[in-house]
Amino acid sequence: MLFVCSIIGYKGKSLAAPVLIDSLKRMEYRGYDSVGIATITDGKILVRKGVGKVAEVNKSLELVRMPGLVGIGHTRWATHGGVTGNNAHPHSACTKDIAVVHNGIIENYDALKEELILLGHRFKSQTDSEVIAHLLEAHYSRERNIKQAMIETCNRLKGTYAFVAVFEEGAISGARFDEPLIIGIMDNGYFISSDILGFLKYTDKAIFLDNKDIAIINAGKLELFDFEGLSVKRPTTQVAWELGAAEKGAYAHHTLKEIHEQVRTVIEGISSDNKEKIGTFCNFLTNAKSIYITGSGTSYHSALILKHIFGKFAKIRSETIMSSEFQYIALDSIDETSVLIAISQSGETADVLQSVKAAKQKGAKILSVVNVPTSSLARISDSFLNVNCGPEIGVAATKSFTGQLSVLYNLTDRLCNGCVGIAANKNELMTALNLILAAENNIANMVDIMDDIKDIYILGRSLHYPIALEGALKIKELAYIHAEGIAAGELKHGPLALIDKNTMVVVINPLDATFNDTISSAHEIKARGAIVIGISDKENDLYDHFIKLPKIKETLFPLIEVIPLQTVAYYLALKKNADPDYPRNLAKSVTVK
Ligand code: F6R
Repeated sequence: MLFVCSIIGYKGKSLAAPVLIDSLKRMEYRGYDSVGIATITDGKILVRKGVGKVAEVNKSLELVRMPGLVGIGHTRWATHGGVTGNNAHPHSACTKDIAVVHNGIIENYDALKEELILLGHRFKSQTDSEVIAHLLEAHYSRERNIKQAMIETCNRLKGTYAFVAVFEEGAISGARFDEPLIIGIMDNGYFISSDILGFLKYTDKAIFLDNKDIAIINAGKLELFDFEGLSVKRPTTQVAWELGAAEKGAYAHHTLKEIHEQVRTVIEGISSDNKEKIGTFCNFLTNAKSIYITGSGTSYHSALILKHIFGKFAKIRSETIMSSEFQYIALDSIDETSVLIAISQSGETADVLQSVKAAKQKGAKILSVVNVPTSSLARISDSFLNVNCGPEIGVAATKSFTGQLSVLYNLTDRLCNGCVGIAANKNELMTALNLILAAENNIANMVDIMDDIKDIYILGRSLHYPIALEGALKIKELAYIHAEGIAAGELKHGPLALIDKNTMVVVINPLDATFNDTISSAHEIKARGAIVIGISDKENDLYDHFIKLPKIKETLFPLIEVIPLQTVAYYLALKKNADPDYPRNLAKSVTVK
């Protein structure tokens, strides 16, 4: 399972509760099994929390009516302790003069809890997070010095965390270690949040805290210092995204909206302001002795495609390793002559960051491809390219995948003097994207008449193999159906034993060098009674269902052929009454290992 929580703090001139609820709703995509808010009124901290989505908990507990101009809020995705009201955040300490919200994992919470119980603290939840509230209380109660209490608390915690605490006297304080925490600055107040979407509606001025930074917001001012207590200065950044881009608009789901946005985002990936940085990438790459590429999940599939197009078109040898395996495979051979390209939508994925930090320690240069230019990954890279496809709210990656491909194709095009042809074929690509999106109704009708399917196999050769993996991942995530991407040539080496009349096989088979071999594979499948869906620009009697690809320069097929697979996954999810925007057990940014 994957977990992530959202945290938000507000101190300003408006009532805190309605602002906090609004912010939590915008961040709900990150994790959402329980919700809570703490506000301060008449010098007392009031906490309300419960299980469910923000709107449900708000309705039953009337969170929005809580008084006070200062508050913190949280949406929880359970890690330590089940999904219960008691385990929901905020957690308050015994004397109720402090309440805390937390994202991450406190690894030494057992030992800390034992120690605090011996000191007389009483715990109300099974969470690791509650120890932060009690530790803070233990230190704060001595001299009622927030700064000292925060420093002493942070120095006792092991693990990864971002937490925000409110203190009865009206102050908010937050600290981060390996989890993001961002300050939003307004004319008359402050936010502190795990995600810029938490406050972007109210301000686009942000300070991204560094690791081991502590912030205190009190008496109308912001104080920043490190875990040693030394004052630190961090730049204020103007955040570029329009919040409107995070609304669903006329679409039923964010996922469907984001699938449709690909006409724009793919084209913007080619035309974006990465020009100068691509030059920097080319310099690093041409001087490197060894090149590694890494990423997780969908971004790993982009990494596989990059390795392929680097080799085929730019004649650059590289190695792609998924981030969760990176430390076991690559670290021994990486040194200061190496370049690591890290691909990540969020730029906050723990596995990716861990690989990058380890490679950096060995002297490697880090180049990244991110959709969040202010992310931790972008900030620790020597250079980064911006996918720039706007906020992706659907938990499953769609537009960020094709956006990554567009940027990576463009980079490769530059390295081989235009031989990939993405820039030269921009208009044709836009037409093809529009045509494939227009196939949505046909795909919806096709899914509608499909019987209850238990297993789906997706076949592709060469560049189409990573697309087969990506299509299968989308179907697993959105529709909870077992799906596997298979390199078509491998069928006879094992998977053919699984094929019978109860299986459905999707064949990615555009008219290119792979066409004839893939048709042979489709024959083998058809002979065993499976239902065959062909995705191709050339029809064939073998296919029970056919999704027609528009004509396009053949190197560019991956950018369009993944779209019908995303659409199939979306409609299969609807057919199963699953929410495509919020797949069960998954969260958007996986900031824990
Ligand atoms: C798949 C999906 C995940 C992410 C993975 C990496 O639809 O969303 O597999 O691709 O968790 O996330 P980023 O790209 O943010 O590093």
